[in-house]
Amino acid sequence: MSRVQTAPMPWLQVETAAGQRNPQSLEDTFTELGAVAVWLRDAGDAPVLEPAPGETPGWPETLVTALFEDSGSEEALRGALQNALPDVELTVRRVGDRDWQSEWQQNLKPQCFGNRLWVMPDDAEVPDNAAIVRLRPGLAFGTGEHPTTAMCLRWLTRQTLQDCTVLDYGCGSGLLVIAALALGARRGCAVDIDPQALDATRDNARNNDCEAQLLIVKPDALPADSQYDVLVANILSGILIELGPELQRLLRPGAPLALTGILAHQAETVCSAWAPWADLRVDDQTDDWVLLSGNKRETQ
Ligand SMILES: C[S@@+](CC[C@H](N)C(=O)[O-])C[C@H]1O[C@@H](n2cnc3c(N)ncnc32)[C@H](O)[C@@H]1O
Repeated sequence: MSRVQTAPMPWLQVETAAGQRNPQSLEDTFTELGAVAVWLRDAGDAPVLEPAPGETPGWPETLVTALFEDSGSEEALRGALQNALPDVELTVRRVGDRDWQSEWQQNLKPQCFGNRLWVMPDDAEVPDNAAIVRLRPGLAFGTGEHPTTAMCLRWLTRQTLQDCTVLDYGCGSGLLVIAALALGARRGCAVDIDPQALDATRDNARNNDCEAQLLIVKPDALPADSQYDVLVANILSGILIELGPELQRLLRPGAPLALTGILAHQAETVCSAWAPWADLRVDDQTDDWVLLSGNKRETQ
């Protein structure tokens, strides 16, 4: 009969209206429970505009949707959700690949960062004089709606990227490096350990006509002698500490860098670990998330 009945149903989609709760904490809980993708959207029709520093982006009512792999574990997932969010009313339903991807696409609203950079779905109208990223995140993290991604995008709009080379380490959907190219960078490198992220980045690069400017690789395929003019890395604090020696090696002396995926209470530990190579400071904060920035030392 319908496509939905005949197509495989590999996903469980969980949805709730945030109400009085912080949508970000719901997103974090879904991520901790193993969601492969979480997105926030307006129950109405407002675009996502850049929030003032320290302000949480939000709408009068926010819907939070999470996608989990359906490996026959619906009961276990329902139990875990009940334990983690006992008072939250949730709907859980099975969905097929194409259903949720097109639903996500329909719900992505144009978002503006730093007045000039727009992240938008394929068919949205282009504002004048804008740097545009057309986004299809696939199964990868990076829609611009998470505070860490948004802080990186804002940071990129404050850099002089003209003719620079940009390294996006932990690229997810590739949004950050594609935004850097839209803002004037000459070449970029997108690195991720997750093959789905590399696929999504390739797809987005093609869709934004910048594939020829991008090297999209796993960490072990990075050319040994590469050095980049700018680094942006949105991973997690422990990984950023572990990768410090390698990441700094990939940067030219003096290069600006931004690290996020870091909670406010972890900032000092990350700054200390990076102290041999850069003086990092908290440059931006949204909720509990911070973005650290600085420049690689000219000499060490
Ligand atoms: C939070 S997402 C960030 C995605 C995107 N850059 C953004 O800002 O929205 C982190 C990404 O880092 C990748 N990652 C995790 N550990 C990594 C590692 N050791 N090396 C490279 N990438 C890693 C994950 O697969 C994921 O795609």
